[in-house]
Amino acid sequence: MITKEALECFQRFRSPFYYYDMELLDKTLSEYNTQLSQYGWMAHYAVKANCDSPILRLICKAGLGADCVSGNEIKAAMKEGFDPRKIVFAGVGKTDAEIRFALEAGILCFNCESLQELSVIDSIASRLGKKARVALRINPNIDAHTNNYISTGRCIDKFGFTEKMLPRFFELFPKLTNCEFVGLHFHIGSQITDMQAFRLLCEKACAEVRIFGERGFKVTDLNLGGGLGVDYDNPEAHGIPNFTKYFETIRSSLSLPEGVRVHLEPGRSIVAQSGYLVTRVLFIKDNGERKFVIVDAGMNNLIRPALYRAKHRIMNLSSYRDCQTYDVVGPVCETSDKFATDAVLPECGRGDLLAICSAGAYGEVMEMKYNRRDFAKAYYSDRLNEYKSNIDE
Ligand code: LLP
Repeated sequence: MITKEALECFQRFRSPFYYYDMELLDKTLSEYNTQLSQYGWMAHYAVKANCDSPILRLICKAGLGADCVSGNEIKAAMKEGFDPRKIVFAGVGKTDAEIRFALEAGILCFNCESLQELSVIDSIASRLGKKARVALRINPNIDAHTNNYISTGRCIDKFGFTEKMLPRFFELFPKLTNCEFVGLHFHIGSQITDMQAFRLLCEKACAEVRIFGERGFKVTDLNLGGGLGVDYDNPEAHGIPNFTKYFETIRSSLSLPEGVRVHLEPGRSIVAQSGYLVTRVLFIKDNGERKFVIVDAGMNNLIRPALYRAKHRIMNLSSYRDCQTYDVVGPVCETSDKFATDAVLPECGRGDLLAICSAGAYGEVMEMKYNRRDFAKAYYSDRLNEYKSNIDE
C-alpha cells in the first residue's frame, strides 16, 4: 500500500524508483510461515526474484533458507545472514569457481541438472577433500500452463534430467565417490495459478521417489521448487497469495515414505506484491491514433511487460480526474518499451506520479543499462521517517 505519508516523500525522490511495502512483505512471510510450520516443511526463498539487502534480511529473519542460481547470489544471501546450511544451489550452468565456492561455504545441496555437472562437482569436491550433497533436478515433462517463457518443466526446456537421461545417471552415480545423493528437485515454472499443475507435479514427484528408491537411491529430501502465481490484475485485493490453497493442494497430492523432508522455493509469491516501480509522467502525446503517456521509467527498469507481455496494474498517484485511455510507454528506443496498452487511468498530466504495481519480483533484479540509463534506487516503507528528515537527491 502507498500511504499519504509515503506519497509526500515520493515528491522528493528522484524518479523512477522502486518502493517496497515492508509491512506487507512481513505479513506475507508470516502467513507463509504459518502454513509451512503446520506441515513441517522447509522453504528456500528464490533469491533471483529480489535480492535487495533489506528484503533478504527480512526473509532471513523469518527463518527461510535461500535458493540461489549463481555464486554471487550465494554470497549475497550469506552476507545478509542466511546460514549456508540452508542454501541450495540450482542452475544448468554452474562454473567451476561457483562450485568451489559453494563447497567451501558448506551449502545444503547442489540441485544438479546434467551428468557432466555431476562429474565436475565430484572432481572439484575430491580436490577439496569434501563430500558434495547433491539432488537431481528432474524434468517431469509437465506443462504448467503459464507463459511459454517461464515454463521450465517440459522436456523441450533446458532444465533438469529427463526420463531418458536417468539410466545413465543410475550407472554413473555410484562411481562418484565425492557426491552424496540426498534427493530430487523439481521446478515446473513460474506464475502458476492452476493448482492442477501442482497436483500433477506432486504425483510425478512421488512416482520418482519410488523409482529412485527401487534403484537403491534413497530420497531424503524432496524439493518441489516454487512457482505459485500472484494476482497482477488486482493486487490491492490479493496482496497476499492464497497460501492455504497452495499448501493444501500439495499436502493432499503427496504420498511419501516416512522421513522424506519436503522443500519449497517460493520467489514471486513472497515479494511481488510488496514492490512498486514509481515513475513520473514526462509528456502526454496524442498522435491522432493513440494517446501516449510517456514516463521516465523504461523497460530497462522493469522488463517484464516487454519480455513476456506481462501485465502490471498501473495507478496514477497524483490525479483524481476523470479517466482516459492511454498507452503507457517509456523513453527507451524500442517499440516494446511499453508498460500498458489501453490503460484506463485518471487523466494524466506532466509531473504526475504513476505506480506500476506487483513489481517486487523480477523487477529490480532484471534492470539493465540499455541506452545508458540509470538503475532505479530503492526505498522502503519502514524507513519513511529517515527519508522525511533527509532531503534526498
Ligand atoms: N526455484 C527455481 C529452480 C527457479 O528457477 C525459480 C524461478 C524459482 C524457484 C522461483 O519461482 P517463483 O516462485 O518465483 O515462481 N523472470 C520471470 C520469472 C523467472 C522464474 C525463474 N525461476 C518473470 O518475471 O516472470
